[in-house]
Amino acid sequence: MFPAVTRAFLLSSMTPVCRSGVTVRRYCMKNPTKLRVSEAFLDAQVGEKVRIQGWVRSFRPQKQNLFLHVNDGSSLKSLQVIAPAAMNDPLLGFGCAVEVRGILKKSPHSKQPVELEAEQIWVIGECNPDFPFKIKERHSLEYIRQFLHLRCRTNAFSSLLRIRSEATAAVHSYFKNNGFLLVHTPTITSNDCEGAGELFQVEPPGTTFANEGSFFSVPVYLTVSGQLHLEVMSGAFPRVYTFGPTFRAENSQSRRHLAEFFMVEAEISFTESIEDLTKVWKSAFTAKIVINCYPKSYIFLSPLHLKDTLDDMLRKSFPVITYTEAIDILKRSSETFTFPTDWGCDLMTEHEKFLVKHCGNIPVFVTDYPHDLKPFYARDNQDHPKHTAAAVDLLVPGVGELSGGSLREERLDLLRSRLGECGLEDTYSWYLDLRRFGSVPHGGFGLGFERYLQCILGVDNIKDVIPFPRFSHSCLL
Ligand code: 4AD
Repeated sequence: MFPAVTRAFLLSSMTPVCRSGVTVRRYCMKNPTKLRVSEAFLDAQVGEKVRIQGWVRSFRPQKQNLFLHVNDGSSLKSLQVIAPAAMNDPLLGFGCAVEVRGILKKSPHSKQPVELEAEQIWVIGECNPDFPFKIKERHSLEYIRQFLHLRCRTNAFSSLLRIRSEATAAVHSYFKNNGFLLVHTPTITSNDCEGAGELFQVEPPGTTFANEGSFFSVPVYLTVSGQLHLEVMSGAFPRVYTFGPTFRAENSQSRRHLAEFFMVEAEISFTESIEDLTKVWKSAFTAKIVINCYPKSYIFLSPLHLKDTLDDMLRKSFPVITYTEAIDILKRSSETFTFPTDWGCDLMTEHEKFLVKHCGNIPVFVTDYPHDLKPFYARDNQDHPKHTAAAVDLLVPGVGELSGGSLREERLDLLRSRLGECGLEDTYSWYLDLRRFGSVPHGGFGLGFERYLQCILGVDNIKDVIPFPRFSHSCLL
């Protein structure tokens, strides 16, 4: 006979006891091997007494037996536990945390290699009935987003977190395998790299440093880009990258903007053309990242046909059009746009989406933007009558702008006069030094990691691909 469910917290049986001066954990002595669910599936322990700890993801009491699925986060799949109906207990149910001890058996069902025949079940933490997620219901991403502190317990969001973690590892492995040095660029900085004024200023609260002016003695901000720090490093290392949190005080709650997001940035020295850049750019985009991101967890997030669309998209070469060509395409189209499409105007999301569609619904590089639209560091093409800069954006289906970059202005005189026009010559004297001491042609790009995940997973809202989204008027937790 199986004993009934034990309503005990494990802690009580974990109390150390003292025997002949040796502290022994009674709990450890008696315990069968603890297995993670992923280890149980390897089925090496079949026939042995084991214990697992996790959360109940499904609960089906039947006349003879109880059927539970227990998930411990080590695997997307849950382990089926079978227990006699006598073990049923009001505390046992969907969402509660349990420890189950029993014999691991080969399963007669083809869907699972093993199952656990329970001898004891401890409810470690009961789950209140007002738990917002219901058994067997497939909740929408919008619904689960209301519960930032609980959504990692759903299949959809736990899948996203797995994919995000895989993609992060794949980004690092891509750059490592391609000779890039990882640079930890600072979070706190005194520069506004993009010059767009979307800065969060950093200062301790109160008057602690009032007598000394301010903490750093100069205004400082959360970084909007690690680019300028990468450029410092690219004076000694020809290939560098960084991958970290980036902050923009954009007053937007759109489905592709966050106040805190992660950016992958690369900088390459001795780069002479935009093609040199786009080659690396495309290979970084298509690297194993996507392949690694398609374990079965994908099905909890997006319809499977999206994977085929993506595979197809990645096999193709990405078209490259100039900004001037892009404007011509927009002007010639019969589409009615809300924002103007005159030469010199910034491309808006509606334009970007149209261009992607026009090019066959695959990623497209747009190059050579009007000089005046781009920050001071973008290389002047010195062309006339249209004055452009060697700047590039990568536009992708479903998202629009995924990535932005440029060749950098490596010529001291041109850079000095541009900084002078912006009244920034003194602020960026150190940046001018980079051009005074062994300057080389170089360039780089920055890719929004969340937008990348949106693109490869077909997730509509950026808030659903980051654990804790921050945007204007919202900073929960
Ligand atoms: O185009 P951006 O502003 O480029 C730079 O910051 C360059 N300094 C990068 C470089 O050359 N090293 O930003 C790069 C990308 C955008 O294309 C977009 O994908 C993402 O960062 N991004 C955002 N993602 C989410 N929320 C926001 N508010 C974002 N702003 C930019």
